[in-house]
Amino acid sequence: MKEPPKITKDIITLGGKSYQTDAFTNVTPTILEKTTRQLHLIPSHPIAIIKDLISSAFPDFKHYQTFSPVVSTKENFDDLCFAEDHPGRAVTDTYYINQKIMLRTHTSAHQLQVLTEADKILVTADVYRRDEIDASHYPVFHQMEGAQLFETRTVVEDVRKAIAQDSMASSSTIHTTDTTVITPANPKQECHDEAAMLATADHLKHSLNMMVRKLFSHEKDLQVRWIDAQFPFTSPSWEMEILYQGKWLEVLGCGVIRQDILINAGKPDKIGWAFGLGLERLALVLFGIPDIRLFWSHDERFLKQFEPSKIQKFIPFSKYPPCIKDISFWSNDQFHENNFCEIVRDVAGDLAEDVQLIDQFVHPKTQRRSLCYRINYRSMDRNVTNTEINEIQDKLREEVVNRMKVELR
Ligand code: DAH
Repeated sequence: MKEPPKITKDIITLGGKSYQTDAFTNVTPTILEKTTRQLHLIPSHPIAIIKDLISSAFPDFKHYQTFSPVVSTKENFDDLCFAEDHPGRAVTDTYYINQKIMLRTHTSAHQLQVLTEADKILVTADVYRRDEIDASHYPVFHQMEGAQLFETRTVVEDVRKAIAQDSMASSSTIHTTDTTVITPANPKQECHDEAAMLATADHLKHSLNMMVRKLFSHEKDLQVRWIDAQFPFTSPSWEMEILYQGKWLEVLGCGVIRQDILINAGKPDKIGWAFGLGLERLALVLFGIPDIRLFWSHDERFLKQFEPSKIQKFIPFSKYPPCIKDISFWSNDQFHENNFCEIVRDVAGDLAEDVQLIDQFVHPKTQRRSLCYRINYRSMDRNVTNTEINEIQDKLREEVVNRMKVELR
């Protein structure tokens, strides 16, 4: 990004471009600042290390890594066949710059554009979602998208050859369970030939099995399982999970690309697969990082621990004590927890570790609903003082009243 983002009442300036605000605008200065960080481009950052490992499993794919996070609602939703009333479009879940322009919620927002340019693509980027606050949720995270297209006419033969070649080159073990079935609930697209679709699906699962084998190379007997899923832009769709330290971990979503997307990309005679995955989730488990805020730390004790291309366990520096504060108020019909969390992030930044609803009741006479939230404040790199947190909490109480029109109790 060229210059720091700026936000005034009417205009948002980001990456050298200006946008008019409107009633949809809900981006905040705290969020816009994050657009300049691009953790996936810092070579010794865990996010970039995971990205590089994954991309090494797709050596001849064209990798796009510097797209602006500002996209149109058409690119993020409409082009990908999202229904008009899909919940992902809600202002409570998505950051809007204005009614038509938003911060991408997923790397899939670039699928149509990149598939017009190439048949084998990767996209890595920061993505933005309004969400709750805890050790595994942050309003900005990083995703990686991959896709490959084949000539529909020759896909069956092309895939057969590609898989035969790969299995000669690789000898490592991987145990996969695949209980997915093509049913009306997760159907083949009508326009697709069955053999072509099955070959595409085989190549997809084969490529992704090879990719996780590489990523989890230290796990001797890697267990992978495939389950049915649903995405607006693929059919059929699947998710991959891996067994890691006794728990099934969701790794990625994928499927056979909706043919409408390929038609719009000017490639009606091709068939293809796509996948998308979150890099933080993988980096948290692979590096053993206890809190997602650490990825954003400027503390050298974090950043200096890692080296390009190497997965190594994070060595925690001492954990600082928390400071816990409650806030209670009478809620109203417009109240949404994500809006509340946004205000917490705005006033407390990364000092907010966790926000939990700890109590609620409806007053028997007035029918008003009372909510009590507990906020756990803690710094990743220093001790916080009670005075400092009290000031933040006072500011939070003030902002909650101003911005959500609730009544404090
Ligand atoms: N965009 C999806 C998400 O953010 C992930 C995804 C699923 C991407 C399936 C894909 C795909 O390309 O085919 O949850």
